[in-house]
Amino acid sequence: MNVEEMKKAVAKEALKFIEDEMVVGLGTGSTTAYFIKYLGKLIMEGELEDVYGVPTSHQARLLALEVGGIPVVSLDEVDAIDIAVDGADEVDPHMNLIKGGRGAALTMEKIIEYRAGMFIVLVDESKLVEYLGQKMPVPIEVIPAAWRAIAEELEVFNATAELRMAVKKDGPVVTDNGNFILDAKFARIEDPLDLEIELNTIPGVVENGIFADIADIILVGTPEGVKRMER
Ligand code: A5P
Repeated sequence: MNVEEMKKAVAKEALKFIEDEMVVGLGTGSTTAYFIKYLGKLIMEGELEDVYGVPTSHQARLLALEVGGIPVVSLDEVDAIDIAVDGADEVDPHMNLIKGGRGAALTMEKIIEYRAGMFIVLVDESKLVEYLGQKMPVPIEVIPAAWRAIAEELEVFNATAELRMAVKKDGPVVTDNGNFILDAKFARIEDPLDLEIELNTIPGVVENGIFADIADIILVGTPEGVKRMER
């Protein structure tokens, strides 16, 4: 199985958790994109009824609309989120995550996934690490005017931060919320929950991409099939 096949396999596995009348948080990224496509198809085929999707980003919303099938609603239109499904950039052995890599959607992802009755994470085995920060920086969404001051302040944490630059636009990436992203490389993150809380106390930080203690189930795509991590 190659990486794309692993992504498809975990996305299919996640469908087994979706039932009629559920409100589903729709994650961002290439792995969750398969889940959104498969979910829309199931609804259109009549296999699921009265399922609503709450997107975590413009990407997820536009994809759900393009695929069809999933009635898309926003967070303030629903009483509760039953289940959220999303990818991750790193997963440690305690099921802590780094998110916000390419998608830069970490703030809305955390808002929705924190509130979900169940949060399911979809990854291929390349995302498994011994400790957070092993391969990936921590994305931090910041108020634009504060980016430089925050980047300097991160030196206190022994981190080096870079302003994320756009690819098909001049200048920095601007998030769905109109903010900038700092990618902060930490030497080794010993206590993810502690760092997650501490980063959010810096004025000008909107949210950071450490998701400690929030995932309920992680579906891991491997060449041998889908493996499951759960609490
Ligand atoms: C988006 O903001 C991220 O949190 C994604 O969930 C994460 O980057 C995983 O994306 P892929 O499934 O594309 O690797």
